[in-house]
Amino acid sequence: MCRTAENTEKTEKKIVWITGAQGSLGTQIRAVIDRDKYEVLPTDREVDVTDRETAAAFALEHRPQVVINCAGIQPDTGSREEKIEMYRVNALGARNLAMASARVGAKIIQISTDDVFAGDVSMELTEFDPTIPTTDYGKSKLAGEKFVESLNPKHLIVRSSWVYGLTGKNFLTYILKMAEDTQILSVPNDQISTPTSALELARFIIQMMDSEKCGTYHASCEGSCSRYGFAHAILDNTGITSMQLVPVLTSSKEMKARYTVLQNLMMELEGSYRMPDWRSALKECLQNR
Ligand SMILES: NC(=O)c1ccc[n+]([C@@H]2O[C@H](COP(=O)([O-])OP(=O)(O)OC[C@H]3O[C@@H](n4cnc5c(N)ncnc54)[C@H](OP(=O)(O)O)[C@@H]3O)[C@@H](O)[C@H]2O)c1
Repeated sequence: MCRTAENTEKTEKKIVWITGAQGSLGTQIRAVIDRDKYEVLPTDREVDVTDRETAAAFALEHRPQVVINCAGIQPDTGSREEKIEMYRVNALGARNLAMASARVGAKIIQISTDDVFAGDVSMELTEFDPTIPTTDYGKSKLAGEKFVESLNPKHLIVRSSWVYGLTGKNFLTYILKMAEDTQILSVPNDQISTPTSALELARFIIQMMDSEKCGTYHASCEGSCSRYGFAHAILDNTGITSMQLVPVLTSSKEMKARYTVLQNLMMELEGSYRMPDWRSALKECLQNR
């Protein structure tokens, strides 16, 4: 991806640096952001956020007013190498961007996750509940949050859950891919959270970009379901009948049965924004397929 702005005109537009811009969320932010108001600098792997000097030099050269950190590594193989890379990107990458943004006076928006919670109680989780991550992914994301909080006072931490879109590696694209050549798929029905459309999350983030607000916000769609329920809704909305879903209990070493439904309490307290129900957001997303 290019390191120059996606807009060519030189105006008084606010400069927004999006890292991890090729991913599910970064793609949606780029798709819906108003180009008349913002000059967008999208970067991905070619501006490695784990390299402190690279991040600092990019910020000094381009002087963004906002940095949206969508760069992240999510668990896949569970290998030791992946674990190291996860901490490097999710924790140190966030630290480097927090320092780089603070140096040029930019606000940083850090994207985080429901995995910062243990998920061992069937209770909605607010921004004021204690964070107790139990997975390396959750621990690395919480470390990223802490670096951002302590290194740049102009920060927003936006926690979401089960983010999906039509591009990138996410649960929606996984189910659609599996449906191409699998007839029976086992999906856990003891992991409960809320599918959140990357498009809806992008809309919230863009709305928050210009505000003076700082702190931590939960931003998941409304409602909840199991992974099995989510997979079922994808098949129902796409009319796919060739694959049968089987509900199972979670059996991996790293992941246990979990309940991580986020309550968007800060939005409620401020009366500022309301996320849509997950089913209607999924329908809208699949209509664009
Ligand atoms: N997906 C979810 O369920 C979910 C839920 C809550 C929060 N989040 C967080 O939201 C953020 C965006 O999620 P997403 O679903 O859009 O993730 P994604 O699709 O995996 O996108 C992340 C992007 O970051 C890039 N990246 C990885 N390492 C990098 C590095 N060292 N320097 C620069 N870029 C790098 C990735 O490149 P490669 O593809 O080459 O690795 C990818 O393009 C992440 O921080 C994630 O932790 C995600």
